Amino acid sequence: MDLTTYFKVNFSRYKALAPSVGKIHSLLLDGKKSVKNDHIALRTIDLTHTNKEKCAKFFIEHGYQKSGEYSFEEKKLNAIHLEKAGWPKVFISELILKNFSEELQNTCKEVFNSIPVGLTSIELLHYGRKWNFSHSTYTKVVKESPYAAWCLAIGFCPNHFTIDLNTLDSFSSLEQLNEHLKKEGFLLNQVEGEIKGSPSVLLEQSSTLADRKMISFEEGDFEVPTCYYEFAKRYKGQDGKYFQGFIAQSADKIFESTNSQVKS
Ligand code: NI
Repeated sequence: MDLTTYFKVNFSRYKALAPSVGKIHSLLLDGKKSVKNDHIALRTIDLTHTNKEKCAKFFIEHGYQKSGEYSFEEKKLNAIHLEKAGWPKVFISELILKNFSEELQNTCKEVFNSIPVGLTSIELLHYGRKWNFSHSTYTKVVKESPYAAWCLAIGFCPNHFTIDLNTLDSFSSLEQLNEHLKKEGFLLNQVEGEIKGSPSVLLEQSSTLADRKMISFEEGDFEVPTCYYEFAKRYKGQDGKYFQGFIAQSADKIFESTNSQVKS
């Protein structure tokens, strides 16, 4: 599979999990054929056969380079980002399983051990969720780690795409874009303010709250947070080039777009 196909197929998979995405996408297309993505984000758990390196392999084989490393102590996550000129960056985070309770570790291992060890990277990225999972376990996991609960309920699918605001004609600031989205009825992540970051750190980000969708569990269908849309505005550094990295403090709050308890 080539990168063009990967992004096309995975935008569809992601959009299918979050109905707001298609609506916002059409709203921002503004007569153009496509909007440019700043990055996409993937989530996983750090077991040997599912870790971030395994997810990254497909992109590295297609010319991406590992360009940044991040750690999120409170959420017990590590992340990397990959870059390839002219393509959306790829942000891959993983749950550091050993830092969680034995119960959560066992749940995650039991579920993820159903994923065949011999999958290729792209097979894993497209694996989705093929396992049965109980909603009562989900509600226990979500209290300890909403991130782990997301991985177990949704499986392998992009968590979000992020529109590159610098390439939009109709909006020059995130404030403008956010006001427009709110007027259209979309809910934004308000954790520590709508806009995470600032021009001084060369990156501003905002995001919708994840849509909620009926997902099937052993006991039946239950509504859970799925995916959200993110928006990024980048600024030039002293070298005259647009900053291409991520700000851990901002990303930390963006993760919470999939928390059930996030207030809108
Ligand atoms: Ni992001």
